[in-house]
Amino acid sequence: MGTYAISGSASGMGAASRRLLEAAGHRVLGIDRRDAEVIADLGTAEGRAGAVAAVIDAAGGVLDGAVSAAGLGPPVAGDLIARVNYFGSQALLEGLRPALAASGGAQAVQFGSNSSTTTPNLPDDLIAAYLDGREEDAVAIIETVDPVFAPAVAYGGAKLAITRWCRRAAVTEPWVGEGIRLNVIAPGPVDTALLRAGQADDVYGPLMEAFPVPVTETPDADALAAWVEFLLSPVARFACGSMFYVDGGTDALMRSDDWPRTFTM
Ligand code: NAI
Repeated sequence: MGTYAISGSASGMGAASRRLLEAAGHRVLGIDRRDAEVIADLGTAEGRAGAVAAVIDAAGGVLDGAVSAAGLGPPVAGDLIARVNYFGSQALLEGLRPALAASGGAQAVQFGSNSSTTTPNLPDDLIAAYLDGREEDAVAIIETVDPVFAPAVAYGGAKLAITRWCRRAAVTEPWVGEGIRLNVIAPGPVDTALLRAGQADDVYGPLMEAFPVPVTETPDADALAAWVEFLLSPVARFACGSMFYVDGGTDALMRSDDWPRTFTM
């Protein structure tokens, strides 16, 4: 049986993933602000470094897999969303990479979102700041956005950037060359505390209500955890740097002709 690190393990899809892995007999090292083996704030550099060190220590330097699920969503302030959803995720994956490499055949899953490709007008300079690791620049750019929409821009931008970072990293020597498979799952609305907080907000509630989802029923966290378990399983070993939309059809509806895209050499 393996040892897996899961951030955001105290709630929602992280908690559901934890339950599935533990039911299958695996050991889980949860990382969260509460109710976890490793208590850490992934919104700060110290919290990220502490989390990485504590997980690697508890795992004896070897991890069979990792799930990066910690996240915040609108209406939480945009700067916090940026710090946790992009910089916290990226630092955690990068920090845990040597322990994943040490197992020789690890698999890792990052939670993206269909907001990455369905949030309108995400600023290119924000995406660049995320990908360049310029945390304070990213926060400064978010502060220039209309405060009503700043959380959504921070969120969609962070999810787009972390997806792109994963796709770039997944195919490089330190990742695939070390036997690690890194993939991204991109859900649409899933019934968790994060979604419910958005639905209860005066501004974001109506916006989320208007978001078109062809599959009208909203899945629970367990449904998405089953996808995580699959992406961590041996049959998923040919998936590498892929982004899996599990979003009830919103991306297909809004971006149907944008990809697949023809390739020009
Ligand atoms: P959730 O709110 O149920 O769980 C998120 C967990 O992350 C919580 O346990 C929270 O304490 C933890 N967390 C937040 N900030 C943290 C910090 N600074 N340090 C450490 N832990 C922190 O949310 P849910 O919905 O299960 O979200 C899981 C992932 O899925 C997130 O990355 C979210 O952005 C993503 N997602 C969620 C969707 C949804 O509709 N619920 C849709 C698409 C993506």
